[in-house]
Amino acid sequence: MQMYLAGDDGIATDWHFQHLAKYAVAGAGCVFTEVLPPEPRGRNTHWDLGIWDDAQIPALSRIAAFIEKTGAVPAAQIGHAGTKSARQRPFDGLQPLGDDDAARGEPPWQPAGPMSEANVEGYHPPHALSPSEIHQLVDDFGKGARRLAASGFRFLEVHAAHGYLIHSFYSPISNRRSDAYGGDRSGRMRFALEVAESVRANWSDEFPLSFRISSIDAVVGGWDLDDSLIFVRELKSHGVDIVDCSSRGVGAANSMARLEKEGKSLEEGYQVPYSEYLRREVPIPTIAVGLITRAEFAERVLQDGRADLIALGRELLYNPHWVLHAANALELETKWNDWPPSWNWWLERREKLGIKRAE
Ligand SMILES: Cc1cc2nc3c(=O)[nH]c(=O)nc-3n(C[C@H](O)[C@H](O)[C@H](O)COP(=O)(O)O)c2cc1C
Repeated sequence: MQMYLAGDDGIATDWHFQHLAKYAVAGAGCVFTEVLPPEPRGRNTHWDLGIWDDAQIPALSRIAAFIEKTGAVPAAQIGHAGTKSARQRPFDGLQPLGDDDAARGEPPWQPAGPMSEANVEGYHPPHALSPSEIHQLVDDFGKGARRLAASGFRFLEVHAAHGYLIHSFYSPISNRRSDAYGGDRSGRMRFALEVAESVRANWSDEFPLSFRISSIDAVVGGWDLDDSLIFVRELKSHGVDIVDCSSRGVGAANSMARLEKEGKSLEEGYQVPYSEYLRREVPIPTIAVGLITRAEFAERVLQDGRADLIALGRELLYNPHWVLHAANALELETKWNDWPPSWNWWLERREKLGIKRAE
């Protein structure tokens, strides 16, 4: 999850270290970095981390090494914000950067996209990427993957969802190009598949590669689950091992924004059906994500064969020890076994003494 707390150099700080380290200490099987753009133009904000420069490797290596030491898998995510670049941070307003932002040291830049029209109303008109610029970006993704392998990550995911650059190419809502990177579905998928190939070639053969996709656009005339089925089959044949099943994001500030605007509430595990369908029909291992907050529900999704991995976002912001509590609730382990010894010795004794915790 993006923290929006780096400088313009995109280098991870102690904040990012503690943010990710704590989930690893607290029993997560795998911990992902926030999305790392392979060029500065692909940042959401001035405050994003990045992977466009070798100077970004040491701080990420420190994070990966610590996560690995806890027994968790250090994972990285690479992606490009595309037409959603050059914005304020969510807690500063999430609006496109303007004159006031420039005056306080955050000037806008021109985002890049499939077309010169913004896919969110009011956003900066993007630069429509030429085929040779697309080739350059495909190459940049490969170089980013190489840096992430050198940083010690053991799992890599390409962010191709939520209306960001790769998604904006495959969605018919945001891509109305008529060249080789637009037109029919295979033209619109071309950029994603070239990125998959480039990343696979520069990432380790030994470690898995995942793609996070928007399984549906949830917009009339948009990308749907049948498109995703064909897309994921293609991704698989281009070296992708796992698909992370998210949704939405084209034409909205973020994937939640449209739902909020339409006053629709989301139900627990609302994206699990996409994971279930793609896992069965492709077939391919999947990650289920989105409003999964209860241990019993997460475990049921796995036991029912609806996903291979469960990803949590906001619930971990609320409760970083969620995984340890889940193991206790499900009685997967002798109660305190999974907890770090420096903690469990005390907690087990406290429990035996019958001391009540504050709820
Ligand atoms: C603060 C914040 C930052 C996020 N940053 C990313 C990101 O860098 N990459 C990504 O793929 N998704 C990102 N997301 C989306 C989450 O990964 C996740 O898909 C979404 O929050 C739904 O899952 P949840 O209900 O468990 O939070 C972010 C979400 C939040 C709340």
